[in-house]
Amino acid sequence: MPSPRDATWPSHPHRLAALPYGGRSGGIAVFEGSFQRIALFGGVYNNYWALRAVIDDAKVRGADLILCLGDLGGFGPLPQRIVPLLQEAEIPTLAGNYDISVAEGFPDCGCGYSDPVDNYFAQISYSYTLDNTPPEQRRWLASLPHQARARLGDRWIHCCHGSPRRTNEFLWESGTSEALLRRFLTDCEADVLACTHTGIKWHRCVKTAHGAGDVVNVGVIGRPENDGSAVVWYTLLTAGDELDVEFIPLAYDYERLAEEMRQERLPEEFVETVTSGWWTTCLEVLPSKERLRGMY
Ligand SMILES: [Fe+2]
Repeated sequence: MPSPRDATWPSHPHRLAALPYGGRSGGIAVFEGSFQRIALFGGVYNNYWALRAVIDDAKVRGADLILCLGDLGGFGPLPQRIVPLLQEAEIPTLAGNYDISVAEGFPDCGCGYSDPVDNYFAQISYSYTLDNTPPEQRRWLASLPHQARARLGDRWIHCCHGSPRRTNEFLWESGTSEALLRRFLTDCEADVLACTHTGIKWHRCVKTAHGAGDVVNVGVIGRPENDGSAVVWYTLLTAGDELDVEFIPLAYDYERLAEEMRQERLPEEFVETVTSGWWTTCLEVLPSKERLRGMY
């Protein structure tokens, strides 16, 4: 089997190949060439205004590759605006659990919640998103790769949604062992692993058999990260002798988003999160350390 470190594997940047890893994911995109600054974001959650802002901001900051790690729908209003903006800006996008569910018409979002209240609110978001995503956009979602690899200087970055082994695995800062992260880096033959899905960013350096690697949860742009601020976050990785990992706070027109959410009759609990910066729903999935940082 060709190696993920081989730049000719697969031979075309967007050509899909079988993953060298088990699990649900089914396709990997490899970007040829070497980039100097890569912007990464996940969890758009129908937030059109933050998506516009992150694309503009990453370009201004000199990103030569911008990657979306998936979960385009859920939570926010008017999902039909997201795919055209990603297509127009030519942002390579991975399928998150939400995108796989919407593409396939699954009965739920596959977010991985277990609490009934979490699932109640998740189902409202999912049904709304599924009902308002046009068929041609669902076909586009079905065509997306599930993981990606790119070179940043002389490092290999491996990108996934939840984890390399499962699209909806939560890699929390407090609950993920160094041994597991080391295993992911080794199995993916990567210097850096980038993920999202949890909604809260973090970065950890991990010792490996070959020296050291980095694991970065790049955060989400769809909703604030439960810290009492309305900003959302994305990540810039910059090549150099030392990898530079920078979390970027992103201001956007959240009042306009809140207004549209009310017009679409989405739950007021969702609107409160956008305007206050505190999570009000889907909280039970949080580990205790992350939960204690929040208001509820
Ligand atoms: Fe997700």
